[in-house]
Amino acid sequence: MKIAVTGANSSVGQNLLERLKTKGDIDVVAGVRNEKAFAFLPQSESIKPQIIAYDDLKSLQAAMTDADCVIHLAGILIETKHSNYASANVAATAAVVEAAQMCDVKHLVFISVVGADTDSKNAYFRSKGSAENLIAYSGIPASILRTPILFGPGAAGANAILGMANAGQTKVLGGGYYCMRPLDIDDLSTAIVKIIESPPSGVITHELVGPESTPYREIIAKTAELMGKTVEVGKVPILLAKIGAAISSTLKGGGITPTVIDVITMDEVVETNADAAIGITLTSLEETLKKVINAGN
Ligand SMILES: NC(=O)c1ccc[n+]([C@@H]2O[C@H](COP(=O)([O-])OP(=O)(O)OC[C@H]3O[C@@H](n4cnc5c(N)ncnc54)[C@H](OP(=O)(O)O)[C@@H]3O)[C@@H](O)[C@H]2O)c1
Repeated sequence: MKIAVTGANSSVGQNLLERLKTKGDIDVVAGVRNEKAFAFLPQSESIKPQIIAYDDLKSLQAAMTDADCVIHLAGILIETKHSNYASANVAATAAVVEAAQMCDVKHLVFISVVGADTDSKNAYFRSKGSAENLIAYSGIPASILRTPILFGPGAAGANAILGMANAGQTKVLGGGYYCMRPLDIDDLSTAIVKIIESPPSGVITHELVGPESTPYREIIAKTAELMGKTVEVGKVPILLAKIGAAISSTLKGGGITPTVIDVITMDEVVETNADAAIGITLTSLEETLKKVINAGN
């Protein structure tokens, strides 16, 4: 089987490629935007790094030639001067779909987010909803995976938790009473491998979250406990944080915005967790946190 991966240098991409390189029957084209990103890709004879540009259809077609499946990982939550929701989440997906159609790809896999919705008031969720629609109406069988915050060694969300758990004292948005369902990034890779091995005939949307719903402040406290430490979790008023974020993101042309604050303080809720439908066993939050702590030491 041949697979093309976009955003292969992302944290999800790096984890997934480590997994795919152990599968003898899968050749991977790892699509990244520049040569510097090659350094972040696992090395293997079965992984071929390739430069792709989302405004250059030919480069995408070159990466997807003869691919059975395209795994589209490129996407952002935090905008920068050079990358916004319209370009990274929507236009890049449109370009990937167009190239996949031209290359007669048999299966698209797209990593979306719990809360993606074209009618959302939140610009990030709207952009992911638009991307989902581009995938769903591409005419290509597709698997859309809506995920919550991802935890694992190196993942941004987990690094933040480690830093706070280490600090002894920390302040989080609203005191961190919002509930998260962190998904172990290894479990996401397991799910993606299962999905590519049994592609659907139509379009399927899975909501795959971690096994436990836990207030953010308790995740920080639990991490500290597992490190043999204690941490006092205080509160940054959300309104104040949003005002600060609005000013600094306007000055910097990116970074944490009120939109991002709304995303990260949302309760992550799903109607049905897709672990059973996909056929995977989820890692407990405690085991995931132990992995993150061990990798950080
Ligand atoms: N991490 C999470 O907790 C989480 C939660 C839910 C959903 N997701 C989704 O899962 C996917 C992977 O997430 P991640 O956290 O692993 O990503 P990541 O590490 O933040 O990497 C982002 C990727 O997107 C690419 N990118 C940025 N701007 C782009 C643009 N304008 N056009 C095309 N590509 C662009 C980056 O390429 P460069 O390195 O070249 O900039 C990089 O490959 C994303 O679609 C994300 O929305 C992640």
